[in-house]
Amino acid sequence: MSTYAQHLAQLQRQAEAALARCGFDALLIASGVEKYAFLDDRPYLFQPNPHFKQWLPLTNVPYSWLLLRPGHKPRLVYYQPDDYWHVPPSDPSGEWVELVELIVIGEPGDALDHLKVPGRLAIIGEADAALGELKPNNPTELLNILHFARGRKTAWELEQMRAAQQRAVPAHRAARAAFLAGASELDIHRAYLAASGHTDRDLPYSNIVALNEHAAVLHYQYQDASPPPQSRSFLIDAGAQVNGYAADITRTWSAGDDRFDALLAAMEQAQLALVDEVRAGVDYRDIHLSTHRRVAAILAGQGIVKGMSAEAIVAERISSTFFPHGIGHLIGLQVHDVAGFMTDDSGTTAPKPEGHPFLRLTRKLEPEMVVTIEPGLYFIPTLLRQLRAGPHAGAVDWDAVDHLARFGGVRIEDDVVCRAEGQAPENLTRDAFAEVA
Ligand code: GLY
Ligand code: MN
Ligand code: MN
Repeated sequence: MSTYAQHLAQLQRQAEAALARCGFDALLIASGVEKYAFLDDRPYLFQPNPHFKQWLPLTNVPYSWLLLRPGHKPRLVYYQPDDYWHVPPSDPSGEWVELVELIVIGEPGDALDHLKVPGRLAIIGEADAALGELKPNNPTELLNILHFARGRKTAWELEQMRAAQQRAVPAHRAARAAFLAGASELDIHRAYLAASGHTDRDLPYSNIVALNEHAAVLHYQYQDASPPPQSRSFLIDAGAQVNGYAADITRTWSAGDDRFDALLAAMEQAQLALVDEVRAGVDYRDIHLSTHRRVAAILAGQGIVKGMSAEAIVAERISSTFFPHGIGHLIGLQVHDVAGFMTDDSGTTAPKPEGHPFLRLTRKLEPEMVVTIEPGLYFIPTLLRQLRAGPHAGAVDWDAVDHLARFGGVRIEDDVVCRAEGQAPENLTRDAFAEVA
C-alpha cells in the first residue's frame, strides 16, 4: 500500500472511531466557498478547510464536499463548473481518484442530493458553506479528537513536509544571494518567488523580507521597493507548500560586522542545541524556558547585559525584552497548526508558563510531531524604551545595543520532526539545506 493509501486508511479509522465516540452516523466536510470583498465582485484568495485538504491533495476546489461513513469509501462531491471566466478545477487525476467515490457536479447546489444521508451528521466547515439543511455544526467533542490526532503526522504527511522544504530552501539561497548583491526587499522577494516556483498566492504565509532595522519587526509585512543605502543584515522568514503542507523557515544573514556576526554565531549554536531538545516525552514548555536561559547567556556573553547572571537576566524578565515570542509551534496543514495546548483528545489543555503569553505550544512531544524551533534575539525600540525606563537600565551596555539595533535582530527557524523515544530529531530544514548544497 502506498503511503497515501495508508494515510487515507488511517484517517478513515480515526473518523469512524470519533463518530462512534460522539454519537454521529456520518461526517461531512465542506472544502469552503469563495469570499468576496465588500460591495465588490473580487474574490479573496481561497483558503480551503484544512480538514478537507488533510484527506485529499486538493487545495483549490471550493464548493466541494467529502462524505465519510463507517464502512464506505470516502465520497467526494467535486465541483467543476463550466466556467469561461476562470480556469475551473482540473479533471480529477492522481492516486486519490481510485480511493474515493467521485461525483462531479457543475452547480454548488447539486451537491445536496449526494450528501443527504440518514442519521446524525457532524458537519465541519465555515457557516457560509451551508447548503440547504446541511449547516456546519462543528461539534467540539469531535473536533477535539481530530485536532489532537493531527499533531502526529502520517508517513505521507512527512513526505509532503520534506518536499515543502525542498521547495523553500533553493529560494532561501536565492534570496540570500540577492541580499548580498544589494537588492531591495521587493527584489529579494521576487528572487525568492522565482526560485520557489510559487507566486504570492501559493505561499503558506506572507513572506517576511526584512533588511536592517526591519528585522526587529516580528511580522514585518512590507517590502520596500528601493534598497537602503547600506544593507547590513537580512532576516527572511519564508516558506513553501506542497499538497497543502507548509514549510516555515527563517534565516538571518549578515553583510559583515564583528559584533553582529558574533551574535549570529552564538544564536546559531543555541538554535542547534534547542533543536536537539526536540525529543519524545519532553514538555515543549521546557524548550521555551531553555531558550530564555540560552538567550540570557548570550546577552551576558556578548556584553549586552553586564553584571548579572543568566539566571537573574531571566528572572528579571530582561530576556523577554530581547526574545518576546514563543520558541515555536506545531506545523502541518496550517503554519500555526491547531491543538497546541491540548493534553488529550477530550479538550484538556495545558497552560502557558506564567509570563509567556505568546507561546503557542504547551504539549508533551510525541513521535511524528512536527514543530518549529525559532529562537530570536531582537532590538525592538518599544521594548528597549521600557527596559531603559526600568530598574535594570544600568545593567545594559547601551552603546552595544545602539550598534546592534542597526541590524534589527536575529531569528533562525527550522522545522523539526520528533522521533521515537531515545532518538535524535529529524531536522527537515537543515537536511534540505545540506541536500541542496
Ligand atoms: N512565519 C511565522 C512564524 O514563524 O511563526
Ligand atoms: Mn516563520
Ligand atoms: Mn514559525
